[in-house]
Formats: sequence, C-alpha cells, structure tokens
Amino acid sequence: MAADLASVAAKLAAPGKGLLASDESTGTIGKRLEKAGLPNTKDIRRAYRELYYTTPGIGQYISGVIMFKETLYQSTAAGRRFVDVLADEGVMAGIKVDEGLAPLPGGGEGETYTKGLEGLEAACREYVMAGAKFAKWRATLKVTDSLPSDLAVERNAEDLARYAKVCQECGLVPVVEPEILIDGAHSQTRFGVVTERVLGATVAALWRQGVALEGCLLKPQMVIPGAEAEGGKVAAEEVASHTVAALRRVVPPAVPGIMFLSGGQTEEEATINLDAINKEARVVGRCPWALSFSFGRALQASVLKLWSSDQTRVAEAQQLALALAQVNSEAALGQYTAAAGGHPSTLSGDSLRENFRGWSGQAPAGGAVPSPGGSGEEVLMAH
Ligand code: 13P
Repeated sequence: MAADLASVAAKLAAPGKGLLASDESTGTIGKRLEKAGLPNTKDIRRAYRELYYTTPGIGQYISGVIMFKETLYQSTAAGRRFVDVLADEGVMAGIKVDEGLAPLPGGGEGETYTKGLEGLEAACREYVMAGAKFAKWRATLKVTDSLPSDLAVERNAEDLARYAKVCQECGLVPVVEPEILIDGAHSQTRFGVVTERVLGATVAALWRQGVALEGCLLKPQMVIPGAEAEGGKVAAEEVASHTVAALRRVVPPAVPGIMFLSGGQTEEEATINLDAINKEARVVGRCPWALSFSFGRALQASVLKLWSSDQTRVAEAQQLALALAQVNSEAALGQYTAAAGGHPSTLSGDSLRENFRGWSGQAPAGGAVPSPGGSGEEVLMAH
C-alpha cells in the first residue's frame, strides 16, 4: 500500500506537471458562475467541468484534477464518466473530502477548523470505488498581529494529519492544505514566520500520526505580503526567496511535491511567482521536492470568462485552458518565459481575490453559521 501511495504521489508531482483544483463547492462555483452571468445549475456546473476535462492534450501538463463530490460521479454529455475521460489522458481523479470551515471553539476572532473527520473513512472507501486516487483537505489560518493562535495552529495541524492518515489507510494520497489567508496587512516577513510555524506544526502532526510522507503532497500558499500590506505587492524574486527559505526550513525531503494554491493572485502573478520559486530553488539548492501548482482560480478564471460569454466557444476556451496549463507547467520547471503574445490570461492584472475564503462572522448560539457575504453555504462548503 505504502509503495502504491508513493508511486501515485510521485506521478502527481512529476516534473512539469501539476494539479487542477476544480473542487469548488456548489456554493463557491455558484458565486463564480453567477458573477460570470450564468445560473448555478447542476447541468451548467457539469458542462463547465466537461469543458476543462475534455481539453485535448491537457494531460501533458496536468497530472490530476481535484473534484467536488458531485463532479466525481458526473459524465460528459456523451455519457462517459469524467473519471474515465481523464484517465484516457493520463490524468488522475482527486476528491475534496473536507466539509468546509466552521468557527473554532475557543479560537480567536475568525479562526476556523475544518469539518469532515466524522464519517471520513467510509466516504474515502466510496471515493476509491468511484475511481479517486487522491484527496484534498483545506484548513485555513488567519494572520493578524496576534493570530494564528496556538490552538488554531495545533488543531488544524492535528486534523490535517488525521485526515491524511485515514486517506492513506483507504488507499488515497492525501493533499494536505494548510492555507494561510492573504487577507490582512501583515508583512511578507510575518507571513513567512507564520508559514514556517504552520507547516512545521503540520509536518510534526503528520509524523505523530504515522503518515507516510512519501505518499502525501503538501499544498501551501506562496509567501507574499498580506493583501492590505503597506507597500503592496513585491517582486517575484522576493516571493521566491521568502517561500523557498520557509520550505527549506520545515519540509522533509521525503515529501515528493509541494503544490501551491494560487490564493487570489492574478493568473499571471501565479505563473511568474511559481517560475521564480523554481529558479530560486535551483540557485540555493537543497530543495528536493517538486515545486508545482494546484491552482484553482489561476487556471480557470480566463477560461470561465470566455466560456460564459458564449457557450459555443468550447474549442477556444479549451485552447485557453491548455495555454494556461502549459505556462504553469513551464513555471513548475523554472522555464517560463513570456512568449511574444505575453501570458495567455485575458484578465490582465485583475485580482482574483475573494472575500469568502475564510470566515469572519460570529456563530449564533446553537444556530446555523452565517457567512460574511451572505448565505453561509459557501463558508461551510468553501473550495
Ligand atoms: P486557488 O488556487 O483558487 O486559491 O484554489 C486552490 C484551492 O484548491 C484552494 O483550496
């Protein structure tokens, strides 16, 4: 079993390959579809997924796609299961197994834990039967001058490790995602310190739980300044040196791949920063893991915009999907150079930041949890 897990993890993190995070919950994808002028119906969601998953050649750059449960069981309009269509391209199916965020009892304001440990084993066994090879669990940590609290760091690390252990026992490679949110005015240096603390605690918890590091992947954010930081954004070289320094200090060489989330960066920033991280890793050395991508927004935003403007433009939207995957594949090798036409993103400079990626409301006593932005569904079920 351990050897199988290590082999799947190594394939997911193969040189120049990364993951497509297309596991937005019904609430989160709904917000994006509605923003693009489309209704959030099951068939629109299915058709949108089909567009990406049937892109010819996508398997050259994408090793795995992470799906929401609804999607794992869906098929193309022609009736072929997505899992099979992807397998034909050499792309493995992954499944989001967490059940979204909830306020952390005893934690600081806006701190969360992630739901889903109860019943996880039975769910994982079902997903394996449906063809899933790997899984994802997202925890979020909030940064202020005093946060994250020790409680939030330890609880989320422990839950990530328990999730990872259950996955491995069921034959799924866990993608372990402790996302430190970019919201806030914290400096890049503080973000780096928190990243080391959170990843260090997560790795220690994985070790305590007996998780085979060779058979799991890490999914952190890049170390950038907070979204409201004084001085704004920094050069890619700065992102790279802070990110690589933090990773070198805490991630053991047994972990095959570090698959970054894009976290609200623009599509172009995500590519350029990933490329700089790989170049930096080569220069400083002693970075034994693949440094690749598990992007959601940074692989999809332009594609959704094009397709939503006219759903008959499938071939064009697929070309765009392929081009975005290709530049990130190049970046994962530290070989990205903007071609004559520039980065394929059609959203030049548009921020992909969203205000519902964490949780900042107050839980009513004994009641449903409201979201900061509305229905609550997307908070409980976020990406
Ligand atoms: P983004 O790349 O849009 O941040 O999403 C990745 C992801 O899977 C977050 O859980």
